[in-house]
Amino acid sequence: MKKSILLLIIVLLIAIGIFSSQKLFHPRKLVRDYEQEGLKDQIVLKFSHVVAENTPKGLAAKKFADLVYNKSNGKIRVEVFPNGMLYSDIEEINALKENKVQIIAPSTSKLGSVSEKWGVLDLPFAFPSYQAVQEGLNGKIGQELLQSLESSDLKGIAYWTNGFKQFTSNKGPIRKPEDIKGQTFRIMQSKVLTAQFKQLGAHPIQQSFDITFQSLDNKKVDGEENTLSNIYSKKFYNLQKHLTISNHGYLGYVVLMDKTFWNKQSDYTKRILIEAMDEVTKWNQQQARKMNEEQLALIKKNSSINIHVLTDSEKKQWIKKLDPLYDKLAPTIGYDLVDEMKKLRKKYENAK
Ligand code: LMR
Repeated sequence: MKKSILLLIIVLLIAIGIFSSQKLFHPRKLVRDYEQEGLKDQIVLKFSHVVAENTPKGLAAKKFADLVYNKSNGKIRVEVFPNGMLYSDIEEINALKENKVQIIAPSTSKLGSVSEKWGVLDLPFAFPSYQAVQEGLNGKIGQELLQSLESSDLKGIAYWTNGFKQFTSNKGPIRKPEDIKGQTFRIMQSKVLTAQFKQLGAHPIQQSFDITFQSLDNKKVDGEENTLSNIYSKKFYNLQKHLTISNHGYLGYVVLMDKTFWNKQSDYTKRILIEAMDEVTKWNQQQARKMNEEQLALIKKNSSINIHVLTDSEKKQWIKKLDPLYDKLAPTIGYDLVDEMKKLRKKYENAK
């Protein structure tokens, strides 16, 4: 008798346990309703990028996701995957085409595999100021580059900014063009950047962004070129002895979607995405500049890296050494584009 009462109590306790674990402790399981208004129609877009979250691109992607969500009352959700956690910069264009992700924002230097024309933005000392960058991207140069994507079934939605590139190295200091001779440098996947380092007598190695830290750490390369926000957020400054503020090249992004995928979206979705993108793009221009300045201050504060700012006369020597590349690369990039860039540069140099 006693045994059966005990058994009954045990069975009751188990039953209560199962009931309460479902109903009391996991009430969400019971209220999930896939038919509720809005949820079944929700569109989810994966946005993959390779940099840290606390960078001009990382923050812009996050802000874009928030704006899209709010503007669409939760009907369109952008999921951001930073730090190359889904795809490296070498893989992301294919991932976009295979619809594994729906938005990417590679640096324009990496678009050479789509069209050689993009190399125009990598020409050394092409943009004397941020204003020149904006004029170039919003004008003929930017338009022609966006058009060059169409035949590859890509849609360029916007240009985002990071900033100007600087040199970091373990063998330095780098003040004059000859200081870089013989050094091995990690660079992005770009023919123009390869030509730039060869022109300087250095050894460029194209590597994806996500292995740059490791390459610097293992001393596989002596240095790299990047914006201050990338140097700061990936802690390259901890692995390098010298930083030269040279502003010798521009690093910006083109936000891309697959054209076929884009064309399939409703007018409503397109409108929300464009509205949010326009807002973020304006914000990103201010933000990027501020971030690069603030993060230079943080690099100074947090490290003992030796910083050299190119003097005007040093800068002239670099320009003289690298200028022949404009004519040398014009047959590859396109004569018209290189001419446009030369004109733009002249205009802003004279404005100084
Ligand atoms: C790099 O590869 O150094 C940069 O393009 C990374 C980025 O996306 O800013």
